[in-house]
Amino acid sequence: MSGDPGLEALKARVAEVPLGPEIEETGRIATLADGLVEVEGLPGARLGEVVRFAGGAEGLVLTLDPGAVQVALLDPGVALGSGTEVRRTGQLLSVPVGRGLLGRVVDPLGRPLDGLPAIVPEARLEIERPAPGIVDRDMVAEPVETGLLVVDALFAVGRGQRELIIGERATGKTSLAVDAIVNQAASDIVCFYVAIGQRTTAVRRVIETVREKGAFARTVFVVAPATASPGLRWIAPFAATSMAEWVRDRGGHALIVYDDLTKHAAVHRELALLARQPPGREAYPGDIFYLHARLLERSAKLSAVNGGGSLTALPIAEIEAGNLSAYIPTNLISIADGQIVTSAALFAANQRPAVDIGLSVSRVGGKAQRGALKAVAGRVRLDYAQYLEMKMFSRFGGFGDAALRARLARGERIGALLAQPRTSPLSIPVQVALLAALAEGVLDDVPLEDLARLKGALGPVLAADASLGPFRAAPDRLEPETRAALLACVRRAREAP
Ligand SMILES: Nc1ncnc2c1ncn2[C@@H]1O[C@H](COP(=O)(O)OP(=O)(O)O)[C@@H](O)[C@H]1O
Ligand SMILES: [Mg+2]
Repeated sequence: MSGDPGLEALKARVAEVPLGPEIEETGRIATLADGLVEVEGLPGARLGEVVRFAGGAEGLVLTLDPGAVQVALLDPGVALGSGTEVRRTGQLLSVPVGRGLLGRVVDPLGRPLDGLPAIVPEARLEIERPAPGIVDRDMVAEPVETGLLVVDALFAVGRGQRELIIGERATGKTSLAVDAIVNQAASDIVCFYVAIGQRTTAVRRVIETVREKGAFARTVFVVAPATASPGLRWIAPFAATSMAEWVRDRGGHALIVYDDLTKHAAVHRELALLARQPPGREAYPGDIFYLHARLLERSAKLSAVNGGGSLTALPIAEIEAGNLSAYIPTNLISIADGQIVTSAALFAANQRPAVDIGLSVSRVGGKAQRGALKAVAGRVRLDYAQYLEMKMFSRFGGFGDAALRARLARGERIGALLAQPRTSPLSIPVQVALLAALAEGVLDDVPLEDLARLKGALGPVLAADASLGPFRAAPDRLEPETRAALLACVRRAREAP
């Protein structure tokens, strides 16, 4: 019987018929409030599915209850009302990805906000995607250089790491992240800046800074400002992560800044309360930890068989009154692989970046540092911490001995080295030279106010030294002769007018 040509032909035709479920389900809006819509009559709807309202607006299914689903609006819900027809699409929400996003400002659905033509996607990816499994990953061992001495030397960030930037408002959190982006102008890392619930003017400032400093063409801006619908603000970090994963999964390297996840937590709470989910601690729904854990797990260093790409995350969180032990901050601190804590007191005292050395940590740190930097950075943090302590006690007077004065002078110089104006990155060779000079005492007799000028002069002096060419290209080791050449450069930069 199996030889019957008629039957075989029939089988072949049957095999071609798509046997997916036909989506033909139409419901109606029951109630509508602040960007969240309750829809009745879509029993088959799935979490994360896109639904379309009469008139074309779209929404995202957020929660499923018997008899009704809660849908977050992705567009301003103009012309929607009780009774408006809603259709399932059967599609999970996806976004355009590909090279076309580079140098663009888009909303979380990939729609242009910069007045330029629509993105031509190379593919579409769903916004919620599983994180790479353990066996698909590799150790985090290569640096993301930020150009900030305080980060690269003391709290190095590795490719694939999640390093939280956390502090009170106006303490330089965004500036730290933007500096890291600006420093990729000539690197192989593609940057994603995700603005969640920020003021439009603040976002515009970030974009302008990145543009002025030449990193614009390597950066994608995914913007859901405070004025965007709650649905758009909610999807923003997930959508942008999918865009960045496209880079990671092709063996490329991406850096993503979420500015900020405190505001994302707030919009999650807002939607959950509207959907009448039971509120938990601080009125956040019970899944808030899982929400950010699953987001940040997607940042990873992939193993060689998976192409060796990486996605590094710099999530930002805002705290109030220095309280790191509030609910969302503790969640994020426990999810991330370390935190850079910015301090209002340091900021006010003009130590900028206002990084609190004692509270900050990178759980990858030295493992991801360039060898030469590691060789000179080791003691700096301890020396500086001791200096800060001594400084406190020396205020009471009576500590007059020379050794102590020398240590205080050294500590002051560390503080001056760690201070850096915005968007003035230091290359790794310059950082190595400065820290080597510090350790050798070459900076001890440089007046503090001259250090900033010296830092600026050092770059060109190093670049002019041909013998340092190989070291500049790969600062992986610090041979004695390299160290000597670097110290000579620092001395020359010190004399430079
Ligand atoms: N390293 C720095 N040097 C000088 N000013 C800085 C530095 N970092 C930040 N600032 C300034 O401090 C202000 C607050 O910075 P911002 O990054 O917006 O803080 P946050 O994101 O924590 O609210 C801005 O006006 C910014 O220009
Ligand atoms: Mg900010």
